[in-house]
Amino acid sequence: MKFAPISDRLSGLGAAKWAVHAEGLRRASLGEPIILLSIGEPDLPPPASVLDAAAASMRAGRTRYAHGQGEPDTLAAIANHLTQRSGVPVSPEQVLFTAGTQNGLCTALLTLVQTGDEVLVPDPYYATYEGLVAASGATFVPVATRPEDNFHITALAIERAITKRTRVLLLNTPSNPTGAVLTQKEIDEIGAVCERHDLWIICDEVYADMTFDVPFCSPFDRPHLRHRTLAVSSISKSHALPGFRAGWVASHPDITPRLVLVAEAMLFGSQPFIEDALAVALNEKHPEVERLRLAFRERAETLIKSFEGSQAITARMPEGGMFVMIDVRRTKLTGEEFAWQLLNEQNVSVMPGESFGKGGAGHIRIALTVDSEILRDACGRIRKLAEKLCAENN
Ligand SMILES: Cc1ncc(COP(=O)(O)O)c(C=O)c1O
Repeated sequence: MKFAPISDRLSGLGAAKWAVHAEGLRRASLGEPIILLSIGEPDLPPPASVLDAAAASMRAGRTRYAHGQGEPDTLAAIANHLTQRSGVPVSPEQVLFTAGTQNGLCTALLTLVQTGDEVLVPDPYYATYEGLVAASGATFVPVATRPEDNFHITALAIERAITKRTRVLLLNTPSNPTGAVLTQKEIDEIGAVCERHDLWIICDEVYADMTFDVPFCSPFDRPHLRHRTLAVSSISKSHALPGFRAGWVASHPDITPRLVLVAEAMLFGSQPFIEDALAVALNEKHPEVERLRLAFRERAETLIKSFEGSQAITARMPEGGMFVMIDVRRTKLTGEEFAWQLLNEQNVSVMPGESFGKGGAGHIRIALTVDSEILRDACGRIRKLAEKLCAENN
């Protein structure tokens, strides 16, 4: 029997990146005292009113097929949310409801690129991006960022990576794993390059509500860039509802009908009660959203303090998101070797930096998804191992 090449292209891009996490999870399920800091799942509760809205909607019979683009009230809620954020009007015709950001990114990429095209991605990048681009058939082109620049991508680096095959720049701000938040100036400089070379911009904004001391900026909010930008997000992180699989792609009204065709080929509408809950999530103000942001900021500060004065580890305060990348290169181990040794010797599960591309080499990514006390304990164990290795290997 013959298979299409898609699964060959995807092989090795999935589970292998999460091997340390899978093992940490397995040991935890056997009762071992593992501190799991290897996955980005908010640990605080979602807004009760959003859960109530989903349950009430389900009981009210909103369990039939939804509109392929999304339910009108939900599209209006997303459009209104984005209008308020940007000050530039967004209409429901510009919005597609998706089953989360991942599904939105997949829909966007399948709509824009194919085999032979190239997609530029700042490196380090979120672990599923290689698979997403590979699924479309396009070529994944990582563009290096530097820890010394807090992993901010530059317009120059992007311009240098452009070839006649480049079609899309895939941005992620705030970034998972690096915590970098693009400034307005950086977005305008990057946008100018995209205009010069007529590139699409896909902007993954799933951590938009989680910036610490800098404002969130999006190319979608810049009127001159909006027609080439597809903004993708969800309530997975902001409202601690990843299992709802509720998100969106916002773009130019001419793009939406094409996105809808692709979305309908995959799902043909989502769950109306989930869409109703998303509308409540965005239409009302929920203190839980701010609580999450503040918790992640406080935990990031706790983490940075825990590594202060260490000769073995360099840790920089992230500008947003739910993660901190720390540099363990002075131990002379790769991020992957360090992560395995940390799990085996200290019962702490983190992601190897290499799972996020070459730019993550020699780093580990720590999720800020436990309370400060547990995080301080985990950081103490990380520091202990790093300092032991440093003494042994230098
Ligand atoms: C950068 C980034 N994009 C997308 C996703 C997936 O989000 P969703 O649950 O909305 O599909 C994640 C989840 O961790 C993420 O970190």
